[in-house]
Amino acid sequence: MGKQYNVAVVGATGAVGREMLAVLAERNFPVANLRALASCRSAGESVDFGSKSATVQELTPDSFKGIDIALFSAGAAVSKEFAPLAVKAGTIVVDNSSAFRMDTEVPLIVPEVNPHALKEHKGIIANPNCSTIQMVVVLKPLHDAAGIKRVVVSTYQSVSGTGKEAMDELFEQCKLIVSLQGDRIKPSVYPHQIAFNCLPHID
Ligand SMILES: NC(=O)c1ccc[n+]([C@@H]2O[C@H](COP(=O)([O-])OP(=O)(O)OC[C@H]3O[C@@H](n4cnc5c(N)ncnc54)[C@H](OP(=O)(O)O)[C@@H]3O)[C@@H](O)[C@H]2O)c1
Repeated sequence: MGKQYNVAVVGATGAVGREMLAVLAERNFPVANLRALASCRSAGESVDFGSKSATVQELTPDSFKGIDIALFSAGAAVSKEFAPLAVKAGTIVVDNSSAFRMDTEVPLIVPEVNPHALKEHKGIIANPNCSTIQMVVVLKPLHDAAGIKRVVVSTYQSVSGTGKEAMDELFEQCKLIVSLQGDRIKPSVYPHQIAFNCLPHID
């Protein structure tokens, strides 16, 4: 049997964390032990890990003992606080938040584009925002072939990019609208109604 890894997912109950768990299982990543971490709000809940499930534990400074790889997706503030603690415990952190993207000490990696930069990591590896990842995968071969000087981009971000509360808000608003109760909509995650709408908003 090949090497197996103890893996932690930080933000395991979130929209991204659940997807990370699904992909790890789908790809048969060699996981010896899985630790699903989130806030105290969801400690004790269960999350799917392929055909199995995992019990969510509260993220604490001691969460990384014995963990080889931690995938962080619980927001930049959580990454800034806990990723250095994970590194101290000997864990390699792959951070999906914006916390370290502009940090010159942390390689910003898209595996299809610059895997060689991984060699420089000091425990933390960052990945770009979702629209950037998809775009550079396509731009890389064009850049290699012809050289690209400038890219002008407009992105249309999905509600899922704002997280599970935003998806719930969209679903609830859609239900109200199709049952002709749209006047009862009270936006909370977004400043305006999001159902059947598009909000010009950037960061
Ligand atoms: N790179 C990309 O492509 C990309 C794409 C989308 C999102 N993101 C990033 O991914 C992160 C999560 O996004 P999401 O859409 O999954 O959000 P989400 O659905 O709102 O989930 C947030 C997750 O973080 C956990 N969390 C929040 N505060 C915490 C704390 N203090 N301690 C421990 N866990 C905490 C939540 O746990 P509870 O259930 O306990 O609240 C939940 O598991 C954000 O940083 C976002 O910017 C990156």
